[in-house]
Amino acid sequence: MPSPVIKVEKVSKVFDRRIILDNIDMEINAGEIFGIIGASGSGKTTLLNIIIGFIKPETGDVMFRTEHLLDHKESHSFRSVFKYPDELKRIIGMAAQTPSFYTTLSVRENLDYFGTLYGLTKDTLKANTNTLINLMDLQGSEGRPGKNLSGGMQRRLDMACSLIHDPKILILDEPTADLDPLLRNHIWRLVRKINKRGTTIILASHHLSELELLCSRIVILKEGKVLAVGTPNEIKERFSKNEEIHLESFPGNYDKIADIKDKDVLKEIAKIEDKGTKLVIYTSKPEIVLNEIIKKLDQHKETIVDLKVTKPTLDEIFIMITESEKDKQEEQDEEKEEIKKKQSRK
Ligand SMILES: Nc1ncnc2c1ncn2[C@@H]1O[C@H](COP(=O)(O)OP(=O)(O)OP(=O)(O)O)[C@@H](O)[C@H]1O
Ligand SMILES: [Mg+2]
Repeated sequence: MPSPVIKVEKVSKVFDRRIILDNIDMEINAGEIFGIIGASGSGKTTLLNIIIGFIKPETGDVMFRTEHLLDHKESHSFRSVFKYPDELKRIIGMAAQTPSFYTTLSVRENLDYFGTLYGLTKDTLKANTNTLINLMDLQGSEGRPGKNLSGGMQRRLDMACSLIHDPKILILDEPTADLDPLLRNHIWRLVRKINKRGTTIILASHHLSELELLCSRIVILKEGKVLAVGTPNEIKERFSKNEEIHLESFPGNYDKIADIKDKDVLKEIAKIEDKGTKLVIYTSKPEIVLNEIIKKLDQHKETIVDLKVTKPTLDEIFIMITESEKDKQEEQDEEKEEIKKKQSRK
């Protein structure tokens, strides 16, 4: 059974009379890596700041599970992040979109500083600092000032600072922004490692194909609302019934292969794209279509170089659903315009 550690309950936020978050409901379960995705400006950072109690919403509440606190004996195990900030602070850490470590302080000095902010004892601080320097691959750089670290190291130091009090929940806002693919992979490996140690992780990112492999569940935000929430596969299945057949063959006369006449097969094909070096066929019945394709390959003496059946990536789904929402809006606007014109003619 999923066991929630954070419950976002009917949260709405308005900035400058604009609704940024509109009645958001979601739960984050213990042990999850929970991804928040959405276009730039869709309210990811605002939502994370509300979860950590930095920003108060106009309506709604965020509740956190308090059973991790040893001195807490009430049967009532959820508390509002806005009413119990000190308790929350002990179990949550956040690495914000803009780093918060001090560039003139060294790696160890930064960790010391954040440890004292959390009131850690000297012994705990020393033990946690050593663990984090190893965990976050910062060995050998303990004495270097933050400003002299590479981009990837700075990101790792920032994460280490947010983990100094060994929180149960870690929030990461765009932890891999501006990093190259190798450095991003390094961060994702570390995120997995932190999660395996028992920390629940909530993160926002634009790297959807990477989140797909990392997150247990994902929420998609669009214009302040939850468009979808679920495992990456649930989201993909819900928004796309099609699978993709990717075919590369030699000599590669794809126009001939794509020239399918059989009506029973044709009705199962949503779209065929000749991408030059390969043919991509979108279908909900890949087994039927594949059968026909194999016949065509044989008929036209084509040799298979590569053939695979895949589900669309989260990137593709994201573009598809955000575009289809935009199309719907445009259609509605056009209809309204049409009605107005008719009325003015009367
Ligand atoms: N303090 C503020 N005052 C006024 N408007 C704000 C404030 N903070 C955020 N906004 C606006 O709220 C909207 C959501 O911003 P937010 O930073 O949460 O988006 P985001 O999804 O994190 O974007 P990005 O992917 O670029 O980080 C934006 O239009 C932003 O301009
Ligand atoms: Mg943001």
